[in-house]
Amino acid sequence: MVSGRDLPAAGGAMAGHDPAVSTAANYRRFAGRETVGRAPAYGVLAAAVAADEQILAFLSALPVAKRQPNLLFAAARHLLGTPTDIHALRDLVRGRADELAAVMRARRTQTNEAARCATLLPALVGLPEPLALLEVGAAAGLTLLVDRYSYDYAGHYLPGADPQAPTLTCQPQGPVPLPERLPTVSWRAGIDLNPLDAADPDDARWLECLLWPGEGDREARLQGALEAARRHPPPVHRGDLVDDLVRVAASAPPDTTLVVYHSAVLAYVDTDKRRAFAAAVGDLDAVWLSNEAPGVVPLSTATATYPHADSFNLIRNGCDLLAFTDPHGTWIDWVS
Ligand SMILES: C[S@@+](CC[C@H](N)C(=O)[O-])C[C@H]1O[C@@H](n2cnc3c(N)ncnc32)[C@H](O)[C@@H]1O
Repeated sequence: MVSGRDLPAAGGAMAGHDPAVSTAANYRRFAGRETVGRAPAYGVLAAAVAADEQILAFLSALPVAKRQPNLLFAAARHLLGTPTDIHALRDLVRGRADELAAVMRARRTQTNEAARCATLLPALVGLPEPLALLEVGAAAGLTLLVDRYSYDYAGHYLPGADPQAPTLTCQPQGPVPLPERLPTVSWRAGIDLNPLDAADPDDARWLECLLWPGEGDREARLQGALEAARRHPPPVHRGDLVDDLVRVAASAPPDTTLVVYHSAVLAYVDTDKRRAFAAAVGDLDAVWLSNEAPGVVPLSTATATYPHADSFNLIRNGCDLLAFTDPHGTWIDWVS
């Protein structure tokens, strides 16, 4: 039960493309489960791709990790300037296959959703301040600006440090520990294989291309978060979440609570790396917060799925299931 926008695969499968089944089956799954109620146009598109021999042949020439619907549709949008439909996609594959493949090989799925900060915030309540935030898989660092955004939890309003930054609206369910104020953050850093720069027009455009059509306020939220990131650039270091974790964590100031966190990231690495990451973060003097699809976090007993078709598990230190969360941060259901 996983969000399709960023990572349709959970457990042992790699995000976006389950190598155990055919490309057509992956697109059918995307159409049948992950777009439902979110982006019907992309559901129709994915179903059409699954039945199109020419597009499937085009995809089969790409590395497995590059065959995902999100990447194909974002690359098409990048070339066309607008979300594609099946007709425009067929024309692209017939007439501009090399260009399309080049974008897919050069780019990756890096959807950066600021609203996930609204589901992270309750897990920070009660931690000794100031906080040092270290996010792995940070993309453009929009989810590092936790204290810059304002929040609205069904009328429980929290003003952020940047009044121009978006207000993140999140529906709390269950005994969510809502803070009375935002925590003090004295240091922050991200790690990403490919950091994106909010001030770079190409990177900002790619983040727009990764959004799905018809998803309400996501586009406006992304623009607002990008502007906030231009005002307060979050430092995102180029590196790997295992190989570079200790090095970057060592820069956190003493007398802070180090919080290592991630959302929609571990599904993009194989199970060995997930385990290596769990071991590495476990060796740090840090609180570890994971917001991922069920089954992605190794060594976790928190593998429960949720009646919602689509939810993440918010897990502390690899074993405490705190909450089920909307993959895009619009609700949080506290369980602990
Ligand atoms: C879907 S994005 C999620 C971004 C952000 N965490 C959020 O919730 O909005 C996944 C990010 O993980 C990064 N990533 C994937 N594998 C990684 C690795 N081994 N080390 C560091 N970053 C990685 C990707 O480059 C991408 O930017």
